[in-house]
Amino acid sequence: MQELEGRVAVITGAASGIGLATAHRLAAEGMHVVLADIEDGPLAEAETAVAAHGRRVLAVRTDVSSEAAVNALADAAFAAFGNVHVLFNNAGVAATAATLRSRAWEGSLADWDWTMGVNFNGVLYGVRAFVPRMLERGEDGHIVNTASMAGLLTGANPYNVSKHAVVCLTEGIYKDLRELGAKLSASVVCPGLINTRILEAERNRGDGSGEHTDVSVLRADLQRFAAGFESALRSGWAPDVVAGTVLDGIREDRFYLFPAQDFILEQVAARMNGIIEQRNPAPR
Ligand SMILES: NC(=O)c1ccc[n+]([C@@H]2O[C@H](COP(=O)([O-])OP(=O)(O)OC[C@H]3O[C@@H](n4cnc5c(N)ncnc54)[C@H](O)[C@@H]3O)[C@@H](O)[C@H]2O)c1
Repeated sequence: MQELEGRVAVITGAASGIGLATAHRLAAEGMHVVLADIEDGPLAEAETAVAAHGRRVLAVRTDVSSEAAVNALADAAFAAFGNVHVLFNNAGVAATAATLRSRAWEGSLADWDWTMGVNFNGVLYGVRAFVPRMLERGEDGHIVNTASMAGLLTGANPYNVSKHAVVCLTEGIYKDLRELGAKLSASVVCPGLINTRILEAERNRGDGSGEHTDVSVLRADLQRFAAGFESALRSGWAPDVVAGTVLDGIREDRFYLFPAQDFILEQVAARMNGIIEQRNPAPR
């Protein structure tokens, strides 16, 4: 999709990190932007900041884990702008860093429901609410779903599993759009370590989301992993790096977008080779 000027983007998780950086990038390219996020205060601040690019900005408080809320977001976007050209399903959460390495039988089941609800259902609801209407309009457009390098690596924890699901879903969507001869295309973005507020995601976890994993009772090695991961994330890449990759991916119609992957692609290669050679998964 070459022409962005005057066209419309919808971004979820737009009040912070990767979503906010991408909102700035796309507005700077002349796009009107619909910002969706669950967090009211930062969403209002983002609305003001992104409007400084001089394009129309609409902020819609949205919990992407609610199908009704995502449908209402689509209604609001199409009512305000008539069409949507870029759909960035980006909102995502991770429970504490320790749960990124927890075992499937550790931690709370509610962590799984919450993480899958936002990271996977949120993307699925976005696709179902927007894509049929985007197809119906018949204009060119692009869908970008945020997964993670975790979506390409082994891990029996809610975050990895939810991101694998996003990769699989998006690969299928790309194939289906090609098969249809649609003017829409798709990309999956799999960032490495990006310095955002992702490890404070529980700030947006509602009271009704069930029992949180009690980090203090987790294994000592998990506690050590969490401390190391938190510090690695803090020295990770700036979210604007991801925004730049997303912008290029839309323009150049590239499917796999791997910003800030550093050494992680070596681990992905090892996993892929292991699959082809039918080797048993290596312990981490
Ligand atoms: N930071 C990283 O290292 C990294 C790496 C790979 C993938 N990602 C993915 O990037 C995406 C963006 O995360 P980020 O790193 O910018 O974190 P962030 O916490 O800075 O931003 C995430 C945004 O999503 C919003 N959000 C959370 N739950 C929501 C919900 N139910 N409905 C709507 N909005 C909700 C938050 O309020 C926040 O504004 C996520 O999908 C995350 O999994 C991040």
